[in-house]
Amino acid sequence: MTGSPHDAGVIEGVGRTALLVAAGRAIETHRADSLAQDVYAEHFVRAARASADWPVRIEDAPGGDACPLWGRLARYFGLRTRVLDDFLLSATGRGTSQVVLLGAGLDARPFRLGWPDGTTIFEIDQEQVLSFKHSVLDRLGARPTASLHSIAADLREDWAGALVAAGYDATEPSVWLAEGLLLYLPAAAERRLVDTVDLLTAAGGGSLAYEIKIGAESPAVRANPLYSTALEQIGVDLLALFDTEPRPSSAAELTGRGWSTTVRTPFDFTAQYGRGPLPEQHDAVGTNRWVFADRARDAAASASAETTQSARLDPEPPTNPTDHLVLDGAE
Ligand SMILES: C[S@@+](CC[C@H](N)C(=O)[O-])C[C@H]1O[C@@H](n2cnc3c(N)ncnc32)[C@H](O)[C@@H]1O
Repeated sequence: MTGSPHDAGVIEGVGRTALLVAAGRAIETHRADSLAQDVYAEHFVRAARASADWPVRIEDAPGGDACPLWGRLARYFGLRTRVLDDFLLSATGRGTSQVVLLGAGLDARPFRLGWPDGTTIFEIDQEQVLSFKHSVLDRLGARPTASLHSIAADLREDWAGALVAAGYDATEPSVWLAEGLLLYLPAAAERRLVDTVDLLTAAGGGSLAYEIKIGAESPAVRANPLYSTALEQIGVDLLALFDTEPRPSSAAELTGRGWSTTVRTPFDFTAQYGRGPLPEQHDAVGTNRWVFADRARDAAASASAETTQSARLDPEPPTNPTDHLVLDGAE
C-alpha cells in the first residue's frame, strides 16, 4: 500500500512525527528481540507519501543499529511503547475501564492490545492525523479490541468538553497517556492538560503517564547526530518542532495536588527490560523523563461529580459529526 489521499495531516509539521514513531515501532516489531509488537505500524509508514520509502526493518536502514535515528531512536520508541503498553494494561487489569490517549497519533493500541471486556478508549489528536490513521486501518479491515472513540481536537485549546461529550465518565476511574506529546506543546497547553486530567480524575481516581524533557538541551546535545539525521534523511526537524518555552514542573504540581508521582529515566527501563538505549555523551534522549502518577478517588468530589462536570466543563456535542468517530469493535 503506497500513498493515501488522506495523508495531508502526517506530511508536515508535528503530524509527521507520528510517522517517525510508527517507523520506529515497525522496526522494533521486526526485531528478533522485539520489546513490542505493532503489526499496523509499517502499514502507516507505507501508506503516506512522506514515508513510503522509509525503512521498516533495521536491516534496511543505512548504518543499521549504528544509525542514530533508525538504530538508537527507534529502539527508544520500542522500549517506550512496551513500557507504556504495560502501564495501560496494568491499570485496565486492575479494573480501570476508561483509557484516554492524548496526542494518540498512529498509536494502534486500541487495535493491537488485548483489553479487558468493557474497556472504552478515547483517542484525541488532530483531525487529519486521525483520518489518515483510520483510512489505513479501514483498508486493512482492522477492528478495535475495545470500544473506541476518536476525537478530533487541538490539545492547545479546551478539549475537555469534547471528551465528556464523547462519553467520558468522570465518576469512573481512568488511565491517561501523553506519549511523545508534551515536547511539542506550549507550556500553557501542558498546564491545561494537567489541570484537566486532575479535574476529570478527582471523582473516579486515575493514573497518568507522560513524557517530558527536563530543561533546555545544551548546544552540544542539539548537535547530536540524531537530530541532523532526522532532518537530512526524513525531513523531520525535531529541534524546530520542540517547544522551547520554560516547562512547568508538572510532576511537582501533581504531587502538590495529592497525586503520587514517580519520575524515571528511559535507561531505568533499559535495565528493567534487558534491552533498549544506553546513555551516551551529549545524549538526545538524556533529558527525557517518563513520569507516572496515580491518584485515589476523592469521595467528596465523587459525590458532587455530576454538578462539577456540568458546571465546569460545559460539554458541547461536536458540531461536526466527523469530529467524533465511534468504533465499537469490542462488542
Ligand atoms: C510524536 S507523535 C506521538 C504519537 C503517539 N502518541 C505515539 O506515541 O505514537 C505526536 C502527536 O501529537 C499530536 N499533536 C501535537 N500537537 C497537537 C495538538 N496541539 N493537538 C492535537 N494533537 C497534537 C500530533 O498530531 C502527533 O500525532
